[in-house]
Amino acid sequence: MSSCPRGLGKDVVPPSFRRWLCDTDFIILALKAVILVTALYLMYAESAVVVRDDVINHRPIIGILSQEQSKYFHTKYPENYTSYIAASYVKSVEASGARVVPIMIGRDRDYYRELMSKINGVLFPGGATYFNQSDGFADAGEHIYHIAMGLNDAGSYFPVFGTCLGFELLIILASGRGKVENREKCYSFKNCRLNFTKDFRRSKMYRDAPEYVVDILSSDDVTANAHQFCILDSNMEKYNLKNDWLITSHSKDEDGLAFVASVEHKRYPFYGVQFHPEKVAFEWKASKHYPHSLKAVQANRYFMDFFVEECRRSGHRFPSHSEENRHLIYNYKPEFTGLLGSSYEQCYFFEPRGTV
Ligand SMILES: *[C@@H]1O[C@H](CO)[C@@H](O)[C@H](O)[C@H]1NC(C)=O
Ligand SMILES: *[C@@H]1O[C@H](CO)[C@@H](O)[C@H](O)[C@H]1NC(C)=O
Ligand SMILES: *[C@@H]1O[C@H](CO)[C@@H](O)[C@H](O)[C@H]1NC(C)=O
Repeated sequence: MSSCPRGLGKDVVPPSFRRWLCDTDFIILALKAVILVTALYLMYAESAVVVRDDVINHRPIIGILSQEQSKYFHTKYPENYTSYIAASYVKSVEASGARVVPIMIGRDRDYYRELMSKINGVLFPGGATYFNQSDGFADAGEHIYHIAMGLNDAGSYFPVFGTCLGFELLIILASGRGKVENREKCYSFKNCRLNFTKDFRRSKMYRDAPEYVVDILSSDDVTANAHQFCILDSNMEKYNLKNDWLITSHSKDEDGLAFVASVEHKRYPFYGVQFHPEKVAFEWKASKHYPHSLKAVQANRYFMDFFVEECRRSGHRFPSHSEENRHLIYNYKPEFTGLLGSSYEQCYFFEPRGTV
């Protein structure tokens, strides 16, 4: 007996598959349906966000989220700016072939949604600010995180990369931002090597990394760390993050505690590193002992090369060159903050209080 209607899938399904599918009794057919549905579910669950393959955008523009002005800068810059971006983040994105648009803090979701419809990815930089301040880095980051998920869910590839504090923010947002922040106290102000996890080569971040980059990262202390908080494996487990996120490497803090050094979302193009790839070529405060060897520069550069390449898969653009020009970071002049003792050589400052 055949349970197939006449002509079902005649032109699309090969005859042998069609026989397997159709020529059998009800129980077996039901079993086959279960197998098919399970296979389709697994394919869906395992596959990254589906994108149009034809998008290769050779003019990517990346948004960098600004951050509350620090107390230190307030003493040095009495203009009372509300936020800043360390120029090293801008330079590292530019060195990999993209331009930068600064993203302001303290705006409503519509501002982030509109800007993100015109740019190709967002970088959450590191720094030092609390996540509990209203209208700050964390609130803006939360808008961006949710909008980015929505864009990807709707088939519009939209990468996000978090560095140091920005990486911690990504994980805290993934945990559901509550009273308790899902991170631990630790202490790491040294250059570290990466201890890659067993299947790191299957990750999006390292799949195509050149062998020499992986060799340097795993055998030389070339990643610059400057953090008092860590994400531990236990943080990932406590909030069930391991289903969605893949840990790809660890480093050890100054007490020998192994912390997550790099991570990525399994479906969304969301990436995080606890260390600072941008400092190696672009920050020079001598007391910090950042690594500056050729190997260190080459290995660290890989991270923005990777991220910018991800952003080339986004087809968003500003509707006109003049609107693009109005948003680019070139509308601002970086200050030589290193001269005043800051650990940043140069910073961009935004929006003196009272001007918005
Ligand atoms: C900045 O803020 C301080 C303290 O609130 C104030 O004394 C100072 O006048 C402000 N500077 C400017 C340029 O507005
Ligand atoms: C934010 O957290 C810090 C550190 O725990 C604390 O000192 C500060 O008072 C908190 N601020 C607010 C607005 O809750
Ligand atoms: C590297 O990480 C693995 C777990 O991924 C761990 O078993 C191993 O002890 C670590 N090695 C070092 C040198 O820290």
